Amino acid sequence: MVELGVNIDHIATVREARRTNEPDPVWAAALAELGGADGITVHLREDRRHIQERDVEILRQTVKGRLNLEMACDENVLEIACRIRPDQATVVPEKRQELTTEGGLEIVLQKARVKNVIDSLHAAGIRVSMFLDPDLAQIEAAAELGADAVEIHTGKYANLTGAAQLEALRVIEIAGRRVRESGMLLHAGHGLTYGNVRPIARIPEMHELNIGHSIISRALFVGMEKAVREMKALMHS
Ligand code: PXP
Repeated sequence: MVELGVNIDHIATVREARRTNEPDPVWAAALAELGGADGITVHLREDRRHIQERDVEILRQTVKGRLNLEMACDENVLEIACRIRPDQATVVPEKRQELTTEGGLEIVLQKARVKNVIDSLHAAGIRVSMFLDPDLAQIEAAAELGADAVEIHTGKYANLTGAAQLEALRVIEIAGRRVRESGMLLHAGHGLTYGNVRPIARIPEMHELNIGHSIISRALFVGMEKAVREMKALMHS
């Protein structure tokens, strides 16, 4: 069964709009788990625009399933990750000006730096996933550096329609096969919605999907538990 990691960054975005203490992502995580989330995903950005260190610390104690920390290849956040010890870290690229993570991480050209991050996380007992475009050279580098999983960036697929979307799906399927053949777990995420999730969830041996924007948007109207339950039902239908 494909697992669902619910990304709750947007809850913290609303809180930070007023620099207050509500809504609390810790509450959102509890409700997402009641709705059937297998894990909770948060991105501790360098500019702390949404999730704060305090959130990750409390979530570490309260999340019952898997806590997945998205993080850049950055010394400061690496130190925090190794101290708080989420179950999994997903290494992502990070740009100050972007609205969200725009593309996969480039690791072929910075193997030494990435290896250092992977080794440090492993030493702290943390499973390591790399957020990559569906690019075979990047996937092979992830395997060579000892990553446990690859999360394929589905943003391009999500932004296309018709034949172009089918072609993007084919590229993800080929990349997914290479991830599995390399002995790593296959994850996917970014831009997935109630409308486009099923073909991605059906890719053989897909292990985990990480979804934020679409679930939080629906949760505004139907509540978090129901929004998560509906997404899981689609993933498994
Ligand atoms: N996976 C990764 C690595 C991400 O950076 C994000 C966005 O924070 C997501 C999944 C979730 O993307 P979306 O909010 O578009 O569902």
